[in-house]
Amino acid sequence: RPDTGRGDGERGPEGDARIAQAAAALRAGGLVLMPTETVYGLAADAANARAVAKVYEAKGRPSFNPLIAHVADLATARRIARFDARALALAERFWPGPLTLVLPAADTEAVCDLARAGLDTVAVRAPAHPVAHALLEAFGGPLVAPSANRSGRPSPTTFEDAVEETGQAAAAALDGGPCRVGLESTVVALLDAPRLLRPGAVTRAEIEAVVGPLSEAEADAKRSPGRLARHYAPNAPVRLEAAAPRPGEAWLSFGPEGQGPWNLSPTGDLAEAAANLFAYLRAADRTGPAAIAVAPIPETGLGEAINDRLRRAAGFVG
Ligand code: TXA
Ligand code: MG
Repeated sequence: RPDTGRGDGERGPEGDARIAQAAAALRAGGLVLMPTETVYGLAADAANARAVAKVYEAKGRPSFNPLIAHVADLATARRIARFDARALALAERFWPGPLTLVLPAADTEAVCDLARAGLDTVAVRAPAHPVAHALLEAFGGPLVAPSANRSGRPSPTTFEDAVEETGQAAAAALDGGPCRVGLESTVVALLDAPRLLRPGAVTRAEIEAVVGPLSEAEADAKRSPGRLARHYAPNAPVRLEAAAPRPGEAWLSFGPEGQGPWNLSPTGDLAEAAANLFAYLRAADRTGPAAIAVAPIPETGLGEAINDRLRRAAGFVG
């Protein structure tokens, strides 16, 4: 699904006015549902600790888990984080887009302590969605935006799902249509050796082509917080690598042989499967099944990130 301009609800002069209103709500310490190319985020002024506290509260996060600072461009990012040559090369290659860099923090006020969960590092990303970009420009500074789901639930990839999850806590909600990517950004730390903290929309191979081999995330929870065992989870249990559904199960199939209303990609295309994953998990869950059975997904390319989210939805540590 290509980005076709401002995306569904926010085109033209009316869209401009709604974006200006949302920026004003952010300046007043309010929260805003913000579409991005990956998933919908719940945005707040990164410098305002009270606004950031509202984000944690709205998500019901059990502990303070650091948030991603979203920026309009590399120039803004360089004011809040220290970029070395590797970080610059990655930003130049993948921004704006679904890559988050964890770097030494350069300005601990622009992204407040609570947003960084007290760490001396900061996660930054410049999103590619035109509505997110317009909001960041109108606001004029970094915005924290975790995925707009309540803690532990699948990330919302449509406007309606975002409103259902945390809309009550938001002073404004921007409709950017369905998210083109549908999986969260890849998180790479560049503190010592480059480390993959979260597989995501940019594949391991694409990152390694720029910075060389990636080390794994450390088991140390301080370094890779937010890697909870059960995460992205629907209400129903999830059964992976299923050859076929059992009676009472909802069925997420994959590929040309796949059946039922939720074939993640009839052509076996992993980008299409990623874009459909969370919306189909939610749709299947709404039917109240005994379990959600999911067909095997190849581990190559984007499949690494899809299987990471599926293992977490099923409650296995990745
Ligand atoms: O695609 C995305 O990244 C979406 C959209 C809305 O931009 N946002 C998102 O945010 O997924 P969130 O808060 O759900 O996930 C942020 C991840 C968490 O796993 C968190 O632990 C990690 O980034 N993170 C943030 N700051 C970090 C830091 N300083 N060190 C290590 N990990 C960090
Ligand atoms: Mg999340």
